[in-house]
Amino acid sequence: MEHNILIIGGNGLVGKTIARILHGRNPHLNIFIGGRKGGNSNRSLKIDVTDPNSFQAITDNKINLILLSVNDKSDNVLKFAIEHHLDYLDITKPTPDLMRAYTIAGKTNINSRIVFSSGWMGGIVPGLVNVLSKDTHDVQAVKLFVYYSVKDLAGESSAHFMAENVAVPFHDYKNDKPNPIRHFLNTEPFDFSFGIGKRNAYNFDVPDLYILNRIERIPNVSVKMTYNSKFITWLLGSFQSLRIYNILSLKERKMIFGSSGNGDQAIFEIIVQDKNGDKKLSLQSTKGQAELTALSAVLHTEELLRNPHENNVYFSHQLHEPSSLLAQLTAYETININIAS
Ligand SMILES: NC(=O)c1ccc[n+]([C@@H]2O[C@H](COP(=O)([O-])OP(=O)(O)OC[C@H]3O[C@@H](n4cnc5c(N)ncnc54)[C@H](OP(=O)(O)O)[C@@H]3O)[C@@H](O)[C@H]2O)c1
Repeated sequence: MEHNILIIGGNGLVGKTIARILHGRNPHLNIFIGGRKGGNSNRSLKIDVTDPNSFQAITDNKINLILLSVNDKSDNVLKFAIEHHLDYLDITKPTPDLMRAYTIAGKTNINSRIVFSSGWMGGIVPGLVNVLSKDTHDVQAVKLFVYYSVKDLAGESSAHFMAENVAVPFHDYKNDKPNPIRHFLNTEPFDFSFGIGKRNAYNFDVPDLYILNRIERIPNVSVKMTYNSKFITWLLGSFQSLRIYNILSLKERKMIFGSSGNGDQAIFEIIVQDKNGDKKLSLQSTKGQAELTALSAVLHTEELLRNPHENNVYFSHQLHEPSSLLAQLTAYETININIAS
């Protein structure tokens, strides 16, 4: 079967990286790029996610898998994929949008594979939790710690994500109950690997909170992050305490979170607590967050193409056999992974 794969948002930082990695590993695939401008090549399609009329190009080019790499607030692409029985993989949704999209998919007859990969770094965290504990029923608690460098490359859409969500209250989970919190508060000290050392980490909303509690039924789930600059981490927390984000306009918040550097490493660490004690997995992407997010999207795509997954709605970790996911990540030259008990 011919595979025609469309990356919408494929001119962006993550989309371009997905195209590069996917093509490098699978030169036989037909990869199309979708964006508002279109382009000269017949593989560049003019598609605007806010204008479903532009989706005719998807059917005209016999696309069978859509990778969504740009925010689509109205879920137009998801609805189109479901209606036209196209496989769909989405790395873009903040938690409330993911919950809404999951509900839309759950209410519809599904005749393709609909995959949500919006968790941290393209939805690989729950898959790595499964590496640490074979049965999530045994897991009492998961803590995710994120180290994010402001020197790392960041696309405009990623920056908007933080600007839009920083003032929105959210919750983590304690004893299987939602615990209301806000970004950049409730400091917790954590000793980061890969030479970073001790940092204060602060509340951070990523869809893994929802996925690990509501889908995997892990009773205690928290996510904390720190920036490479201790001063910036502290300042962002102070802004939240003083409720400054609530009075700033979206444009002003975009100015705070909108910067992109020239590239830096990205790190996250997962602590899993089960009946056998604590285990830790530390992951470093020396080429930063966009490279790792794109690699994850590629691994999910390859899994969809390689193995017979039934038509259904999935969170991306549900596609993978944990040890195979770990092996593929470890084999990638800019990813380092350490596991400790
Ligand atoms: N899950 C994760 O861990 C994770 C990590 C990083 C990023 N992300 C998400 O990935 C997405 C892409 O991030 P990014 O950093 O690559 O952002 P980006 O560099 O801003 O790229 C987005 C691209 O989408 C295109 N675009 C914008 N509006 C569009 C529209 N209405 N219709 C079609 N295309 C449109 C733009 O190209 P044109 O000008 O050609 O239209 C732009 O190049 C974001 O949603 C971000 O939140 C997820």
